[in-house]
Amino acid sequence: MTTAPQPPKETRSFQSILVTGGAGFIGSHVIRRLLRTHPNTKVVNLDALTYAGNLANLKDVEDHAHLHFVKGDIQDRALLDKLFEAHGFDAVLHLAAESHVDRSIDEPLAFLETNILGTAALLHAAKESWTRRGCMETALFYHVSTDEVYGSLGQEGLFSETTAYDPRSPYSASKASSDHVVRAYHHTYGLPTVISNCSNNYGSHQFPEKLIPLMIRNIVDGRPLPIYGEGINIRDWLWVEDHAAAMDVILQRGWVGDTYNIGGLNEWRNIDLVHKLIDLVDSRLGRTKGHSLGLITFVKDRAGHDMRYAIDASHLASRLGWKPSVTFEEGLSHTVDWYLENASWMEEVTSGDYQQYYAKHYDKR
Ligand SMILES: NC(=O)c1ccc[n+]([C@@H]2O[C@H](COP(=O)([O-])OP(=O)(O)OC[C@H]3O[C@@H](n4cnc5c(N)ncnc54)[C@H](O)[C@@H]3O)[C@@H](O)[C@H]2O)c1
Repeated sequence: MTTAPQPPKETRSFQSILVTGGAGFIGSHVIRRLLRTHPNTKVVNLDALTYAGNLANLKDVEDHAHLHFVKGDIQDRALLDKLFEAHGFDAVLHLAAESHVDRSIDEPLAFLETNILGTAALLHAAKESWTRRGCMETALFYHVSTDEVYGSLGQEGLFSETTAYDPRSPYSASKASSDHVVRAYHHTYGLPTVISNCSNNYGSHQFPEKLIPLMIRNIVDGRPLPIYGEGINIRDWLWVEDHAAAMDVILQRGWVGDTYNIGGLNEWRNIDLVHKLIDLVDSRLGRTKGHSLGLITFVKDRAGHDMRYAIDASHLASRLGWKPSVTFEEGLSHTVDWYLENASWMEEVTSGDYQQYYAKHYDKR
């Protein structure tokens, strides 16, 4: 079977794309983009609507004629077969996952099930359908993964596509495993696959258990700002819409069998990022500079906390010509404005399960 990555013969266009996890943070941005940039393509969003998935994320496009929503689990093989049959997908853009590292430490099995077995079920359904329909040459299975599969960096160096996998948390181990299963389906069965490994995303519609929306929400409300350890862990931040743009490029022109690292060349220590958010939110709310600094609360470090992630995205830049479109200042400013203007979204997504999780993990620290 094919081993070296192959370029597509021409820019791809698809009749029918299955997007998994489209009601989540990144998935909702991707769906909005696909509807814009692929106006003749049917987009089916399969999402289980876990605590992290919310159709409120897609309110502005819910009536779009080409968007269809199916509530269901990616591990449900019978449902997948039915959907492939009914919609004739020629692409899968797979984002559905359990995605929060802290939760993976508390409930690892759910991560292994959804992220590994769910991915395997999708790969299998695609292989069966595309073999039967004879469209392996033109179809594409795109698996969306994370830079966390590479482990943790010291002060120097960047993750490249050839960095050895060294996942440390149940989340990253489950994503690393799913990457391996994707490659196995490519090498063994010739399934046309592509993988991207992206750094930390930020932007609108992100569930407020993740650092940036959690901090914005707490600064607004005057609640403690819990920061792990000394706040010196470093992440490479990318605006979610730039990630969606990168995914679109890879969907259209990514080489079959290839892997693309996606990142913003934008490293921040957690504590410095929180200071930046305090400045931005306080200034937007007309408060004096430094008003919310006293809310910073250092809490016991996350178990096995990776020190630094940083991405070398030069392969994606040189092969497909993608680069980020905004500076961190622009993206963060836009993001803060969005959360301040969308308090009702925050209310809606933080009811129910999340309240209990938040109370257990953050209020009592
Ligand atoms: N957020 C980041 O910074 C980041 C960075 C790199 C890669 N990723 C990857 O991108 C993808 C999307 O991340 P996100 O931040 O949007 O996550 P998210 O948690 O916001 O959304 C995940 C979505 O998947 C759905 N889902 C979960 N389990 C499901 C199941 N069994 N069946 C069907 N749907 C299910 C949820 O309902 C939710 O809508 C994930 O695969 C993640 O590993 C995320």
